[in-house]
Amino acid sequence: MNPLHQELKQVYHSDQIEAKKKTVNQDPWRLTYHVMPPIGWLNDPNGVCHFNGRYHLYYQYSPHDAVGGMKYWGHKSSTDLVHFEDHGIKLYPDEPYDLHGVYSGSAYIKDDMIHYFYTGNVKHLGDHDYVSSGREQNTIHAISTDGGFTIEKQACVIGADEYPKEFSNHIRDPKLFKLNSHYYMILGARDREDKGQVIVYRSSDLFNWTYQGVFAGPSPDLGYMWECPDYFTLDGHDVLLMSPQGVEAKGHEFQNVYQSGYMIGHLDPENITFTPEKDFKELDRGFDFYAPQTFEDESGRRIMWAWMGLPPDDDNIQNPTIERGWQHAMTMPRELKIIDEKLYQLPLEEYKVLRQDEKEMNLTISGHQEVKELNGEVYELQIDVHRCGDELSIHLRQDTTISFSKKSGKLSLNHGKSGYGRDERIIELDELKQVRVFSDMSSLEVFINGGEYVFSTRVYPEPGQDQISFSGEGCIHVSKWVLASTN
Ligand code: FRU
Repeated sequence: MNPLHQELKQVYHSDQIEAKKKTVNQDPWRLTYHVMPPIGWLNDPNGVCHFNGRYHLYYQYSPHDAVGGMKYWGHKSSTDLVHFEDHGIKLYPDEPYDLHGVYSGSAYIKDDMIHYFYTGNVKHLGDHDYVSSGREQNTIHAISTDGGFTIEKQACVIGADEYPKEFSNHIRDPKLFKLNSHYYMILGARDREDKGQVIVYRSSDLFNWTYQGVFAGPSPDLGYMWECPDYFTLDGHDVLLMSPQGVEAKGHEFQNVYQSGYMIGHLDPENITFTPEKDFKELDRGFDFYAPQTFEDESGRRIMWAWMGLPPDDDNIQNPTIERGWQHAMTMPRELKIIDEKLYQLPLEEYKVLRQDEKEMNLTISGHQEVKELNGEVYELQIDVHRCGDELSIHLRQDTTISFSKKSGKLSLNHGKSGYGRDERIIELDELKQVRVFSDMSSLEVFINGGEYVFSTRVYPEPGQDQISFSGEGCIHVSKWVLASTN
């Protein structure tokens, strides 16, 4: 075994780390049915796939520091997408081509093997050219022949010096798809004029790759770098997902420091170029969502996970779990569908197994109304709106409000103190039909009108801040379930 790998492995399993896990697990803000880092920091989902009945989720992981640092690939797996086993670290930064971080990448299943492609980050200290930013981003190939549990690095298949010269050294996050008899790998890129694009390589065997050209972009309004691209076809449409950096806020849109969104378009199968037919739309309108990655499961569903967090470049937003030795989590996995040329996100049916203690009621809201029997911290809440007055508000966890105003045609999500700097997000909405909330100890995922809009947000209420109340005018049907813990 590589000596550096050995050393890193020992550090991870040291008594000190075990002791840290105990402290971290005592934190009341730990989530109960979301994937979280055992200790330390988590960011992007990586290598998501379904192989021989088992779902795999690898993720960007910095165990040593809750504010990030050296990146490894952590690994969890599940047979039902709800209950996950932790398998520790699967990829260490221990080769000359990935020495300063095993960055994001994806999985591709072929001939009973899982192939992984990821970005090997190497920093050249002392080099201050801002475009290259003193780094190499190599594309690395790795293989698992035992169904995802042991991963063997193969080779650097595209070295940083082989990328096209019109691009900076910011080229990363490979994702694969197959078309006719070829494999294609798309990568997020920043060109030398600071424009975000997606480039594409082609292979007939997954081992040898040749540059094909620009797959998508640039676009004048879409920033300087496109991270984590993902291309797939869904319900008869070609879809490109990406996480652009440097997009200006526009009205209520693009309010986060970086965005994650999608474009519906058309893939030219001759030239392997993607042409958008619709504008770039944000996938999620909450405060904590970035770097989503999708896969098709063995039953043909397109499933997406995302980092329920963002890079720490917005000083206004805090995560108080840092002092408790951990930070960030994954969103729940969600199924994607295209309805009326819009991407919808649906909570997975599988999560119904966690439902307990059902409460159901019809309520006529007029003024402020508390419903004590609905109170809770960890739950699923479904509100079907039968009639809505000029304003209707739902207050959760005592300090968070979802408010719909028919007059202004807007729906807002507001946090008080427990938002730790997260204040307000607004969407334009003609009619409010349904609100479905998944609340965990320090997170909320709110699905509006059957998944047409979603807000994912971290929130840090004090223990016992569990009140649910309503205000405004309307007739609603409420179903609520306590959700059992999986962690
Ligand atoms: C997105 C990202 C990727 C990169 C990884 C490093 O959050 O910046 O572009 O590969 O995180 O952790």
